[in-house]
Amino acid sequence: MRKKIIAGNWKMNMLPNEAIEMIQQLTDYVKDTENEVVLCVPYTDLFYALLTAQGTNIKIGAQNMHYEEKGAYTGEVSPKMLKSIGVEYVIIGHSERRQYFAETDETVNKKVKAAFANDLKPIVCVGETLEQREAGNAFDIITSQTEKALDGLSPEQAENTIIAYEPIWAIGTGKTATSEDANEACKKIREKISEIYGQNVANRVIIQYGGSMKPENAKELLQMSDIDGGLIGGASLKAETFEKIVNYNK
Ligand code: PGA
Repeated sequence: MRKKIIAGNWKMNMLPNEAIEMIQQLTDYVKDTENEVVLCVPYTDLFYALLTAQGTNIKIGAQNMHYEEKGAYTGEVSPKMLKSIGVEYVIIGHSERRQYFAETDETVNKKVKAAFANDLKPIVCVGETLEQREAGNAFDIITSQTEKALDGLSPEQAENTIIAYEPIWAIGTGKTATSEDANEACKKIREKISEIYGQNVANRVIIQYGGSMKPENAKELLQMSDIDGGLIGGASLKAETFEKIVNYNK
């Protein structure tokens, strides 16, 4: 059985005092869950979030990073810097970064490798636009993004890469993919991984769904055979809503 990973993606929200308060509230709600609980927070919240989450089962992640360890890259944060303060997870290639910040399959691949080189757990986002879905290209897009993200990784690294299937048309729109559609897409991603690395690796890879996941639809989505967790934006900003997703199976 694959463990479920429920990860919040705060995006560009939450000041340090709000982050501390949210994590303090969340701590009690989620302390008995068997699911992995992760919050991916803005850089300016990382240190506060890590301190507040110390001694709890809440893990802290970043939302992006550079692939180089250091150097003349004004404004960037390196994987080594994240690791040095105790960050465990990092989101890579979120569609907002692909769309607004020129992230490509190539930079995603470099960042995934850099994450492993620094002992960070990458959550790699893949997903199609509405146009691509309507043209019947969704599965080609997401399997190709997956293949390029994993390019050159060892089987062990591939197995430890978390993939988040996030159809772009479902992000922040209130539109969720049906649980069947989301599951089918996650299955296609798993099949692609099986093609490259074999069934054993594919069976162990965690594949999340993301896109307007909320307390009302989380249970149905998370019970599907190939959906092993969620990447949650809007509904991760409040402890009361996020905990309901984390505790979907209670
Ligand atoms: P959403 O965002 O839950 O607000 O749709 C998900 C994401 O972009 O990771």
